[in-house]
Amino acid sequence: MDLMEYQAKELFAKHGVPVLPGETVDTAEAARAVAERIGKPVVVKAQVKTGGRGKAGGVKLAETPDEAVARATDILGLDIKGHVVHKVLVTEASDIDTEYYVSFLLDRANRTYLAMASVEGGMEIEQLAVERPEALARIAVDAVTGCDAAKADEIVAAAGFPADVAPEVARILVQLWKVFVEEEATLVEVNPLVKTPDGRIVALDGKVTLDGNAEFRHEDVFTAYADKVADDDLEGRAQKKNLNYVKLEGQVGIIGNGAGLVMSTLDVVAYAGEKHGGVKPANFLDIGGGASAQVMADGLEIILSDPAVRSVFVNVFGGITSCDAVADGIVQALQMLGSAATKPLVVRLDGNNVEEGHRILVEAAHPLVTLVDTMDGAADKAAELAGSAA
Ligand SMILES: Nc1ncnc2c1ncn2[C@@H]1O[C@H](COP(=O)(O)OP(=O)(O)O)[C@@H](O)[C@H]1O
Ligand SMILES: [Mg+2]
Repeated sequence: MDLMEYQAKELFAKHGVPVLPGETVDTAEAARAVAERIGKPVVVKAQVKTGGRGKAGGVKLAETPDEAVARATDILGLDIKGHVVHKVLVTEASDIDTEYYVSFLLDRANRTYLAMASVEGGMEIEQLAVERPEALARIAVDAVTGCDAAKADEIVAAAGFPADVAPEVARILVQLWKVFVEEEATLVEVNPLVKTPDGRIVALDGKVTLDGNAEFRHEDVFTAYADKVADDDLEGRAQKKNLNYVKLEGQVGIIGNGAGLVMSTLDVVAYAGEKHGGVKPANFLDIGGGASAQVMADGLEIILSDPAVRSVFVNVFGGITSCDAVADGIVQALQMLGSAATKPLVVRLDGNNVEEGHRILVEAAHPLVTLVDTMDGAADKAAELAGSAA
């Protein structure tokens, strides 16, 4: 489970990682009282589960309580990469001398834990890793010994932290490791960890992913931080329906069965989209094997309610669930959705009982459905429909 910044910082504070005082509010007016209590300039920060909030206008300075209300008004309701802001953190503004980066994560490929650290924090770490990989120290952390004082010193030295901050950063790394282990996280990240002009080190941002497999040991934390899903949160609604759905930034809705097929569908749609005005996949959705009409309807309903979607590509390979069952599912799903189904559907079926599947769809003759035989052809058609609907 991914946590929001303010939740991550609550866990930081619990384990001795220094953070600044702040409170979350969900109305702009409520930001006034928080700013008054803090009694200094504040920063109003969108609480959404995505990075790059600063660049997207989701992090703003407010010198006075009135300004805090104004900035909260700007930020609440903002859409940041498909995440609508329902909550803002009003927190003390900090002067910044230098921005650093530190994190611990599970390194699946190397079957170990990994510490990453850089004295060039602030920017997105993916970008730093690509542009200046030498500026990002990567140190394996043994699961048994963990990050003790010696390991923390090693990380700090590898990243080249200057001597005046090295001991404090090392101390914070040991505390951060406690967050990682005791809360059973798969990621804890601080970007930026800052040095203030008066020499203090503070976590200004925080990202924590808790291991869902350990939920039974942390019922209290999981319950406290569970999302109260908003109607406009596509991923939250999909999760409630047990769908494997990930929102992306394009215009072609994707439904497929099997993660591998869906991944390659994303690729062919992105490729085909280049010829049609640069349209891209709008989501990942794997309805799995044995998908019922209800699952198809749930999936279609989520995808069609995404305002960015202009066409939908249903790409199914019939295996245990044969193509005729899938075709029945599509027809029934469209019936269930009725007038809620408004965008063109391109369907490509292959595999077990494909002829019967085609017959069912042809017979149903739904005005929104186009059947295409090949995956590339269908991707092209779906991208063309999305491109022309622009
Ligand atoms: N409390 C704060 N005081 C001063 N500047 C801040 C504060 N919080 C964030 N910032 C500035 O805004 C930038 C972006 O904020 P951050 O919390 O890292 O959001 P994101 O990573 O989503 O863009 C930070 O790199 C920092 O420069
Ligand atoms: Mg950040």
